Amino acid sequence: MCGIAGYVGKKAVAPLLIEGLKRLEYRGYDSAGLALNANNQLYLEKAAGKVVELEKCVNAQPGLNELTGCGIAHTRWATHGRPTAVNAHPHLDGSNRFAVVHNGIIENYQELRRYLEGKNVHFRSETDSEVLVHLIAEAYEGNLLSAVAAALKQVKGTYGIAVISTLEPGLIVTARNGSPIVIGLGNGENLVASDVSPLLPYTSKVIYLNDGDIAAVYADKVDLRNINNMPVEREVARIDWDASAAEKGRYEHFMLKEIFEQPEAISNAIRGRLDAENGCSILNGLNLTPRDLAQISRIVIAGCGSSMHAGLLGEYYFEDIAGISTSVEQAAEFRYRNPIIEPNTLVIPISQSGETADTLAAVREAIRKGAVVTALCNVVGSTIAREAGRGIYLHAGPEMSVASTKGFTTQVAVLLLLALLLGRNRRLSRSEGIELVKQIEAVPDLIRSVLEQAPLIEEIAKRYAQVENFFYIGRGCLYPAALEGALKLKEISYIHAEGYHAAELKHGPISLLDENHPVLALANDVLGKDKIIGNIQECRARKAPVIALVAQGDTRVRSMTQDVIEIPQCSRFIAPLPSVVAMQLFAYYVAVARGCEIDQPRNLAKSVTVE
Ligand code: G6P
Repeated sequence: MCGIAGYVGKKAVAPLLIEGLKRLEYRGYDSAGLALNANNQLYLEKAAGKVVELEKCVNAQPGLNELTGCGIAHTRWATHGRPTAVNAHPHLDGSNRFAVVHNGIIENYQELRRYLEGKNVHFRSETDSEVLVHLIAEAYEGNLLSAVAAALKQVKGTYGIAVISTLEPGLIVTARNGSPIVIGLGNGENLVASDVSPLLPYTSKVIYLNDGDIAAVYADKVDLRNINNMPVEREVARIDWDASAAEKGRYEHFMLKEIFEQPEAISNAIRGRLDAENGCSILNGLNLTPRDLAQISRIVIAGCGSSMHAGLLGEYYFEDIAGISTSVEQAAEFRYRNPIIEPNTLVIPISQSGETADTLAAVREAIRKGAVVTALCNVVGSTIAREAGRGIYLHAGPEMSVASTKGFTTQVAVLLLLALLLGRNRRLSRSEGIELVKQIEAVPDLIRSVLEQAPLIEEIAKRYAQVENFFYIGRGCLYPAALEGALKLKEISYIHAEGYHAAELKHGPISLLDENHPVLALANDVLGKDKIIGNIQECRARKAPVIALVAQGDTRVRSMTQDVIEIPQCSRFIAPLPSVVAMQLFAYYVAVARGCEIDQPRNLAKSVTVE
């Protein structure tokens, strides 16, 4: 969940690393640090708080911003040890000749620490990571790569690391086991990072390390090996995201930018994948023949957070459109619950980042149990995408804000494509397929019309910004949408918000309602409309203020509340998409009105790479 950046080349290292950390900050942001290897010494700066705090420390050191050579940097999301400057990475050995940054968890660190302390090694921090640098210093016999390999052999747990040493200037050694590392190949310079975002301004050529890989990265070459020091070959991949996609541009926050990017992101997700004539979809990455598809007897979806909510919509789609029995698992439960996976079960892990530890564990378990696994990921080359071996990329472009927006809606769009394909393979007629294709093609415009209402949504949001509790209620496909809407609000505004099935409210939670406990009701569902109107009345009878999402032209709900957001009329399968966009805007404007940190809410991380 932390971020790593490293650079070796001719450019001034510190500003480049700070810039890289800023691009990585969405992964963790409670402290940060960097170490530079120049003039036969290590320069170390660390700070608690965000990367700007580190930047201030660096700027306060005369000459540090001009140093060339190589360096490593880290932004942290605390697991072991408080988020202090001392616990921030890099960690140095006692002689200040080695520096290490680490993502992941060293499970046997207490045992290793006792062993090292027995040898009079002095520890400065409370972290598990610090053992690594002492083990490397201890193992060093003239070759940094060999020392790192020897140290890693003693370690149990997960790591993505980068190491530098004054004994070998111009070299970064990096290694991976369970925590991603990608090497960016430049011209006379090379970079190391935990994901591609810091590399984007410098190169589009990258090498993704596999678990067990270790690499010596120099300015002009990369030597790739396995942990036993045997050379390995890895393909050079190309990233098709341009650097500006990971910048805020004219928007104040990434979240707002990403909300407004959704029409385009969905167009990209569906482009070339719809067959209007045959009412079907074309998903080449699936790598499954029509016969394979016909044999699928069950679908199990696994994901976390917003991705799990997208999965809940997938359940509606696969059962309703394709007639395939589907269940959704919280990825964290998947491998512990021992779910029934048969040879004809299709397991669909959903993960924007492709790195979430629990979802990855579910992928591994599903593969072990012999399932057909098809991943829905956004980040090309991510661990889940690679390990699943087949899947459908979202093509949403980089999502930088911690709260997922375009990641979620493109997941839903892709689930619709997959349901269409499976449906056409079974019970869906050509004309029904053609109708669904039209509905999917219309989604970007539906979302645009919601985005046009941003000023109205902002106005409503300001009126509700000071409440402390919220219910979000919906029925049918709008029930998972309600869960997602509530999650957005809690993530960024810190208001306690619960997503509930509208009918479930009566089974307990309704006792909480009063004039200070508002309800956001998704009343734009054509099918369940009468029922949700009844549920709104129940809320109003308890004096709860109600914000209603209504279908364009609605008059019935309007007569019950003044706070109404119109959603263009669309089918029940499509309705969650524009509805969620409206709720994303609502959460955003509430959080802005409350003065909250939008893109990096407290305690959260974009990519949760620990269980
Ligand atoms: C974190 C993020 C959420 C995200 C979830 C799953 O909790 O803050 O926004 O939905 O992880 O992430 P994934 O990358 O697997 O979709």
